[in-house]
Amino acid sequence: MKANVLIVDDDAGLRRALADRLAFWGHATSEAADGVCALSEAARQEFDLVLLDLTMPGLCGLDTLRRLKEAGCCAEVVILTAHGTVEAAVEALKLGATDFLTKPADFALLQAVVERALEKRRLQRVNRALAERLAPGDGFVAGDSSAMRQLLDTAARAARSNAVVLVTGESGSGKQVMAEYIHGQSQRARGPFVYVNCVALSDELIESTLFGHEKGAFTGAIARKEGRIDAAAGGTAFLDEVGDITARLQSKLLHFLETNQFERVGGTRTITVDCRIVTATNRDLEAEVREGRFRQDLYFRLNVIRLHVPPLRERPEDIPLLAQVFLDRYAVEMGRTRLKLASRTAEILQRYQWPGNVRQLRNAVERMVVLARADTLTPDLLPPEIFLPAEQLVAGPERSIAAAAGGAGEEDVAPLHDAVRAFRRAHIARALARTGGNQTKAAQLLGLQRTFLNRLIKEYGL
Ligand SMILES: Nc1ncnc2c1ncn2[C@@H]1O[C@H](COP(=O)(O)OP(=O)(O)OP(=O)(O)O)[C@@H](O)[C@H]1O
Ligand SMILES: [Mg+2]
Repeated sequence: MKANVLIVDDDAGLRRALADRLAFWGHATSEAADGVCALSEAARQEFDLVLLDLTMPGLCGLDTLRRLKEAGCCAEVVILTAHGTVEAAVEALKLGATDFLTKPADFALLQAVVERALEKRRLQRVNRALAERLAPGDGFVAGDSSAMRQLLDTAARAARSNAVVLVTGESGSGKQVMAEYIHGQSQRARGPFVYVNCVALSDELIESTLFGHEKGAFTGAIARKEGRIDAAAGGTAFLDEVGDITARLQSKLLHFLETNQFERVGGTRTITVDCRIVTATNRDLEAEVREGRFRQDLYFRLNVIRLHVPPLRERPEDIPLLAQVFLDRYAVEMGRTRLKLASRTAEILQRYQWPGNVRQLRNAVERMVVLARADTLTPDLLPPEIFLPAEQLVAGPERSIAAAAGGAGEEDVAPLHDAVRAFRRAHIARALARTGGNQTKAAQLLGLQRTFLNRLIKEYGL
């Protein structure tokens, strides 16, 4: 790939030498003898790389750098200096320079610098493309486990219909990305994707948010206002935390789902809107129905297609892929494209139980990228809770047994063999977490032979 390089130096001989060499490698160059010329050159064309002298008459290198950044120049800036002092270096890095080249320039280093600038520009473009793909409604869902592949397959098939979809799952498991995926895969993908959180608002507010209101419907309703359902016409409305709405709104929603029709708050006119409804909740809707808090008929209507996103701990095969997706995303954002996970870090991520699911993993990766000094992300950069053997991890044995037995309800009791197996797996995971993954120490804690423990670890895929 060809780079466009701006060489800023008051020494004409040096500019020539650099330009000749860069041209020899096939890159395009422009030259500026001082900071002011550099700024006008940068305003005229887009550069991948700026080689910038620090000591120049007039506008100095640091000021030029500052002004370039202010002007939104996103080229990589590498400082050229014969007088490289630590202070100037630190200052230039703070201002966004990425490197130093000392004069006389070492051509091997120069070549590496140009290549890195090009790589960074390429990644910026990839990231922009990804960010566009990630725009709400397009839905990017990473998942490699058979559970996720099956789920995505069902979601894609559901997307082709107009059926109502209910997405369930723990907090942070990816319910919203699943809703966006459905929209993105549907024939409505070019239409709007409208998000409504039903828990953040009061009953009246949700109603007018969803269905709009007529002028004078309540104090403060000074004009007619359309609702989010109107905004979703031709597209998808995603009603998050639908388990939280009250009885009155439940019946209005049911009516809309049956007929595509509603009246605005304070209005009598019937309005018809064609929009697809996807809902999500992390409540146990069956229990809400049993306890009389949620209409059974609405539950049946919402539950036509049910997509349950499993918690991350039940699909640990997805952890490496997700960690990589987030690492790439944040590394590009921070211009740290050479970052990679140490294998010890990857092992710890793999073994952790992720009570906060994918969101917690995303946050952990972001934290590591932000804190990293070197290119390898070592375990000490992980958030401390990951090392706590406490509740968050698997809870105590009782919770593990309850979970293994298939949930809190006494009516679903798992076979003893499955429950014991789940408990053994969780207990070993806890021992490993406590010893930071050291198998010898974990074997001591558990009173097992190391080789036996190793066999169990493999057997349980820990
Ligand atoms: N399979 C996935 N691929 C890529 N990113 C994901 C995936 N699952 C979750 N995420 C990311 O994790 C974060 C949490 O996901 P999301 O908001 O969809 O969770 P949620 O189940 O709706 O959570 P809550 O119940 O708290 O609303 C988001 O940043 C999302 O982009
Ligand atoms: Mg959500």
